Amino acid sequence: MTQDQELSTGRKIWAIGSGKGGVGKSIIAAALGISLSELGQRVIAIDMDFGNANLHSFLGVRYPRRTIADFLSGKFKDLNSILIDTPITPLKLISGIGGNLLNSNPWHAQKLKIMRYIDRLEADHIIIDLGAGTSYNTIDFFLSASNPIVITTPETTAIQNVYNFLRASIFRILQNAFRADEEVRSIVEKVREPMHDGNTIKMEDIRQELFNKNPEAHEKLSKLLDSFHPNLIMNMILSNEETKFGPSICDVVEKYLGIKLDYSGFISFDKSIRSSISPGIPFLVEEPNSKAAMDILDVLLNRDIGQVQTGADLLVAVAFGQQGQNLKLPWR
Ligand SMILES: Nc1ncnc2c1ncn2[C@@H]1O[C@H](COP(=O)(O)OP(=O)(O)OP(=O)(O)O)[C@@H](O)[C@H]1O
Ligand SMILES: [Mg+2]
Repeated sequence: MTQDQELSTGRKIWAIGSGKGGVGKSIIAAALGISLSELGQRVIAIDMDFGNANLHSFLGVRYPRRTIADFLSGKFKDLNSILIDTPITPLKLISGIGGNLLNSNPWHAQKLKIMRYIDRLEADHIIIDLGAGTSYNTIDFFLSASNPIVITTPETTAIQNVYNFLRASIFRILQNAFRADEEVRSIVEKVREPMHDGNTIKMEDIRQELFNKNPEAHEKLSKLLDSFHPNLIMNMILSNEETKFGPSICDVVEKYLGIKLDYSGFISFDKSIRSSISPGIPFLVEEPNSKAAMDILDVLLNRDIGQVQTGADLLVAVAFGQQGQNLKLPWR
């Protein structure tokens, strides 16, 4: 969905991505879905982690009766037909494909089919929980979102991987935009390659080269980079020192990749998250007073929930006035 389409439909598509696995994408996707749903929004969460689908567990759905495999196989003709109710009304789920390697890498036509049908879903918010890594399928769903969010933990490998994820996303945008232009493509492709000294080239250098050789392409590049605005959430923060990592990552991304990565905040490491997953009750519901639940609500409020177009301030105040304690859920 383009930004224009989003403006005309008022609908948001969120995609939660990361380079490294296990950094908290699904738990944050679930928390976002639950929060928006509690604000009275029509929300559909989609598990797009092919091969490793588990979003349903984070939403209190034990055995999904239908999955996206039933749609891809043609058993159901559209995505509406495979929507599953969750215990958090009116939040709905499209469950992913677990364990079937044959389907874990949907080919191009299937990907386009899913995207076409996502566009037809009736919802105020669609939340796409992605698998880890930089496969084109994952990146393409990430880029189809109006609100792309990346998650990392403070671990060095996770940070490197989230940087690579963003670099791969930018490369994909540029590859799509300049597919037909051999000369420009060879210049922008440098964003992917390390230089001889092991450093990567800065986007500014690529811009400069394009400016000299092809001003029209330079302008197009600038527009593309300006319109790609992902957000960053840091998860599993353990110390004060680690709270500083987020802004530093945004600085590095801006400096080297030439895009503005907005920092949305951090979520503390909290043992209660782990212990709450097994009973099948969403974390935000089971442990609403935990440090991590409060952090999650803070982060989501700082982000976009506050901009929900329905008397948002009032709703937010009502729903989150006591840091989530007023969430009205069936378990209470
Ligand atoms: N803030 C946190 N504090 C403590 N544990 C956490 C926190 N966030 C997530 N976890 C733990 O990390 C595990 C992985 O989280 P989650 O499944 O959401 O990650 P993911 O990025 O979706 O993983 P995958 O890449 O496999 O899909 C959870 O089962 C939970 O136990
Ligand atoms: Mg996950």
